[in-house]
Amino acid sequence: FEGGEGTGKSTQIKLLADYLKSKDKDVVLTKEPGGTDIGLELRRILIEGEISKLDAEAEALLFFADRRIHMVKKVWPSIEDGKWVLSDRFADSTMAYQYYAYDKRLSKENINSLYAFAVGNFKPDLTIILDIDPKVGLARSFKKAATMTNKETRNENRELKWHENLRQGFIEIAKEEPQRCGVLNADKSIEELHKDIVKVVTERLGL
Ligand code: TMP
Repeated sequence: FEGGEGTGKSTQIKLLADYLKSKDKDVVLTKEPGGTDIGLELRRILIEGEISKLDAEAEALLFFADRRIHMVKKVWPSIEDGKWVLSDRFADSTMAYQYYAYDKRLSKENINSLYAFAVGNFKPDLTIILDIDPKVGLARSFKKAATMTNKETRNENRELKWHENLRQGFIEIAKEEPQRCGVLNADKSIEELHKDIVKVVTERLGL
């Protein structure tokens, strides 16, 4: 699952996991950054605190370090065991956030090289991209943050243009790999969006 801030990814991924379990699938629900113990430490470094703490290069390296550990310790072993792995974010987030949102300041080739170094030829079977107007997404995100004690609001605090670049980035990624990516309008009720997701998963993965 991919998308900008406040798209409802975390809610939707849990609903899909429950749905797949009801169809007797063995499901592993995980996330990036922070799908492993070391990943949780990297997550704190990456998404808490000041915007200026890291630059885009350092972020890309650390997100791929988290991803490498996640693949080795959790994703590949789970796939090996025949499980369905649902991940709340994966490498498209690095391309969308560290490349597109930062106004394409980094080189796309460098990000692709980091991908090859950390992940090799592996690709997800399906990437669901939840799309929403950043104004709507950010309002949702801040509302949620107000009810929580965590400090994971580094990206929410960036300017609107940054979030618009990010949204466009995910759309570009989906255009480049339409066979892997499905973009869904996330500006609807939880139940309606869940139905759309089940439809895409059923069509693409043949449940
Ligand atoms: P989340 O729990 O909202 O998904 O928080 C993760 C944050 O980290 C979110 O703002 C997106 C950001 N992120 C990147 O910038 N690059 C990445 O590669 C990943 C996985 C996440």
